[in-house]
Amino acid sequence: MIKTANGVWKLTLGEPEQFTPERFRENAIKIEEIERLPVSQKLPFKETSISWEKTKRGITITLPMKTDEDIYGFGLQLQSVNHAGRRRYIKVNSDPAANTGEGHAPVPFYVSSAGYGLFVNTFRYTTFLMGTNTGRGTSSHMTAENKIHEEFSEAALYALKRAKEERSVIIDIPAADGVELYLFEGSIPEVVQRYNLFSGGGCVPPMWGLGNWYRVYGGSDENDVKAFGKQFREEQIPISVLGLEPGWHSHSYSCTYKWSYLFPNHQEMIDELTAAGYRFNLWEHLYVYPMAPFYQELMDVSGDYEVWNGLVPDFAMEKACRVFEDYHRENFVKKGISGFKLDECDNSDYNPSNWAFPDSTQFPSGMDGEQMHMAIGVLYQNLIQRIYKQENARTYSQVRSSGALAAPLPFVLYSDLYNHKQFIKGVVSAGFSGLLWCPEVRDCANGDDLLRRLQTVVFSAHSLINSWRIPMAPWKQTDIKKNLAKEEMETADYYTAECRKLFELRMQLLPYLYSAFVEYSKTGKPPIRSLVLDYPDDLAVRMIEDQYLFGDSLLVCPLTYEEGTSRKIYLPEGSWYNFFTGEKLEGGREHTVSAAYNEIPVFAKDGAVIPLAKPVESVSRDTVFEMEIRTFGEAEGSFCLYEDDFETFAWETEQNRVVIEKKADSEPVITREGNGPVRYCF
Ligand code: GAL
Repeated sequence: MIKTANGVWKLTLGEPEQFTPERFRENAIKIEEIERLPVSQKLPFKETSISWEKTKRGITITLPMKTDEDIYGFGLQLQSVNHAGRRRYIKVNSDPAANTGEGHAPVPFYVSSAGYGLFVNTFRYTTFLMGTNTGRGTSSHMTAENKIHEEFSEAALYALKRAKEERSVIIDIPAADGVELYLFEGSIPEVVQRYNLFSGGGCVPPMWGLGNWYRVYGGSDENDVKAFGKQFREEQIPISVLGLEPGWHSHSYSCTYKWSYLFPNHQEMIDELTAAGYRFNLWEHLYVYPMAPFYQELMDVSGDYEVWNGLVPDFAMEKACRVFEDYHRENFVKKGISGFKLDECDNSDYNPSNWAFPDSTQFPSGMDGEQMHMAIGVLYQNLIQRIYKQENARTYSQVRSSGALAAPLPFVLYSDLYNHKQFIKGVVSAGFSGLLWCPEVRDCANGDDLLRRLQTVVFSAHSLINSWRIPMAPWKQTDIKKNLAKEEMETADYYTAECRKLFELRMQLLPYLYSAFVEYSKTGKPPIRSLVLDYPDDLAVRMIEDQYLFGDSLLVCPLTYEEGTSRKIYLPEGSWYNFFTGEKLEGGREHTVSAAYNEIPVFAKDGAVIPLAKPVESVSRDTVFEMEIRTFGEAEGSFCLYEDDFETFAWETEQNRVVIEKKADSEPVITREGNGPVRYCF
């Protein structure tokens, strides 16, 4: 094994493939930041206990595993969070309907509670058997466990005996002749931080990106979009970003990347709404329609199959990237577009088969379709990110597929599945593998379901309403048919007011959340994360899939509409305070809490110092936030805010640290240091 960084080891088995996630990395390992992390645990096994063999179908690797090991990671997982005892099939799939491991952003990385993490540097559809299988004869002497039936019942029939001996992790990588493994030492949080810093550190979105987003109806024309802009301001709904859906293209499946008949004066619309404080995000995907202006140029740098009659550009080739980048830079980025929604770049297994290219596709770079499916989400993000870097403007964008080493990419994942319970699991799971996830609000059964979903959304990485199917905001009408007929529901005023409160709450939390992202970039600690990452030794949190930390101080316990108005929560050791009412609850135990449909249970840690901003309707380069400091409990505490221009890459060198310290029995003390602009006033 070769030491790559402090607590990071590389093991090369056989002859690795040419195309790997590492080969396409655009962000260097944050070596110094990794040095600063403690290593509380060494690898729990010796190198010699990792075995591997080359078989006809590829590579099989075996690692030791104990019966009590808990396993997290594997990218965005919507069906479960703890993967011990599970088979994980790491394959990109836009419809992760079952708990197989497939999904929009599967990542061949896991972290084990035994004190290590493993990243397999491959684009192959890899299967990880996390303690599910034992070798021939392992159970032959286990007569105590494997008793004969003494009764017939389904329980007895299926009471599979968990092997008492140590289990194994078995990794099956097809097609490859060899592979590189990276092993990360430490406790669960240390491993996750190490992996994220190894990836290049977390992204720092522009402040506007953390505000509220509204994706407008796909059939909207430029006047409708302007009307939305006006209406949100009149109704004091603080929306920062307007997203345009497929209708803006003159042909969208596949794409022309040209404005349609609905937007004859699109530049005027962009300029007018930009002056009113809005940002624009454009929907697209990478399948290039014959009438796209750069179609011919891409012909020799595309795969040998089409999707929706469009070319599939080979983004592993410099020319394909350049053609795409140049066009996007000149026609959109320089014209005031702040980001893109990179749709449909995940493999689709359930839709008609022309929704995806075959795994056997050959790309001119030499990649095959399987590798390209696993790579394309990240290659597409890299390409867009390069444009914004060149323009010295930060983007915050959306993408429907991602993969390994993605922490530095300012893109948020989303899905078409719309199951709120699963979306909450996504919030909990994404942070283990350097991903950001948006539990977007789209379809909702009724107004209370809308509120429940919006509560989760405002406490997520991306506060987004995706109204691409409905011409009126969902708070005016949740029934799609009636919405299409422009019929408002009777309760529209009530739901408008309740949604406004949630949007304003998000705006209050912007500086707090921004700090969590700056720390993500410096320490690798995910801004939104599972309780396991802050309480790794508390066994009671290991299976929790519906509570999470939002920044360092807030614990969020969302409810779905179906769950009604009360739920069980678990609070780790210590005192906790209801964020809205201040009510104190003791931790180290479960509680049943009630929350009306317009309330969400959120708790602040003892000693929490939470700076809140007076909500602004949108954030610009000269916005100065008026801050109020809230403190919770008796314990001493502090919080660090970061000030910079909030939108360019100048933050890397010009940034202030504003430290708020709360000592017992005295007012919080604020100190500021750095060379950045002053953006917070107290
Ligand atoms: C889907 C996407 C939706 C919407 C739609 C438009 O793939 O997930 O959010 O953009 O395409 O066709």
